[in-house]
Amino acid sequence: MNQKISIRIESKNSGIKKELERITLSLGQFILSERKERPDLLIYELGDAPAEEFKLLQSLIESNAVGEVFVTSRQPDTDLLLRAMRAGIKEFFPQPLNAQDIQSALAALVKRRQQAANHETGHYGRIIHVMGAKGGVGTTTIAVNLAMILADLKKAGSVALVDLNTVFGEIPLFLSVKPKYHWGHIAGNLNRLDRTFLMNAMAKHACGLHILPSPSYLNGHPPATADIMERLLGEMKSNFDYIIVDGGQALNPPAMKVIEMSQHILLITLLSLPCLTNTKNVLKSLAGLEAFSEDRLGLIVNRYLKKSDLTLQEAQESVRTEIFWNIPNDYKTTMSAINRGIPLHTLSPKANITKNLASLADAFLDDSQKDAKPKRWGLFS
Ligand SMILES: Nc1ncnc2c1ncn2[C@@H]1O[C@H](COP(=O)(O)OP(=O)(O)O)[C@@H](O)[C@H]1O
Ligand SMILES: [Mg+2]
Repeated sequence: MNQKISIRIESKNSGIKKELERITLSLGQFILSERKERPDLLIYELGDAPAEEFKLLQSLIESNAVGEVFVTSRQPDTDLLLRAMRAGIKEFFPQPLNAQDIQSALAALVKRRQQAANHETGHYGRIIHVMGAKGGVGTTTIAVNLAMILADLKKAGSVALVDLNTVFGEIPLFLSVKPKYHWGHIAGNLNRLDRTFLMNAMAKHACGLHILPSPSYLNGHPPATADIMERLLGEMKSNFDYIIVDGGQALNPPAMKVIEMSQHILLITLLSLPCLTNTKNVLKSLAGLEAFSEDRLGLIVNRYLKKSDLTLQEAQESVRTEIFWNIPNDYKTTMSAINRGIPLHTLSPKANITKNLASLADAFLDDSQKDAKPKRWGLFS
């Protein structure tokens, strides 16, 4: 659910209006709605005739002319609060405004919308975009194994793995599958895209993972565009609980679209100077995207060695971003998995790297899908 949520703010007091705009827009997930549009949320300041105003607001809610309504008032009292509740108003903010209360109310709205969307499709539709700060940092290894572990956890639901690396895609090799189709075929037939077409185009691994590789050559296939990715991933969201994307190092329009649509963006880096410099540049580029919010980013240090020249602390300071996760260095196991085309949890279930990736996968499960919370850091907290 990363489409922006549109808000209309109605207040005769320009100071309050500005303050509400500042608080809501600071979250990055909201935009101000155009006059004629149906807003997902109306924040309304009550004036001198609350009885009429409540009637009007109630009719807007009932006719679905607005998504939800929050109100604020200069003179809050219990009676107003009760009337607001009866009119179907979700939140009441007394003045002076408390930014934290408003932000919590907005977060709850985001959650309600997400739950409603999941309910509609019956699928969780979570996109996890995995990208590297450099080539060779382990992006594909992490995307493939995360997807395989999630697919193996029956409680996680259905899982898809998509390769964005046109020509350089390697997912089929990592998993010894020989897919017949790739997303280039779908891109050329977008008008036919529906559940049946999508499912037929994807390869299925024995563990249940659905795989959509990239074209291995460009001949005749339309190159990926932001529109193609939006349609494709939009369809996938209605059919899968998790969609893991191997985004390589791309920051082109299709990759940006995927980033915009993703719940989590995992940026893979190493504890090396060139990699951290690139990481800084990627982070800067992401921060410049209108649709990007930092809370969706998880910076991951791969090939972590306790005795490295650079410490995790130094790396964090250098890129000015908290490291969300680190994955131990294990060249032998990862290389053997790649060369044999077997995922890590089949090849070496007891290896530290496999256990580490299993905990990482666990961090993406919803509370209802897992028995216990991960022991590691909270997810992007
Ligand atoms: N945690 C790790 N420890 C040691 N080697 C790793 C690790 N993760 C990946 N590798 C190795 O790094 C190389 C590149 O991995 P790959 O996943 O293809 O990276 P990318 O997709 O970023 O180019 C492979 O040889 C792989 O075995
Ligand atoms: Mg790769």
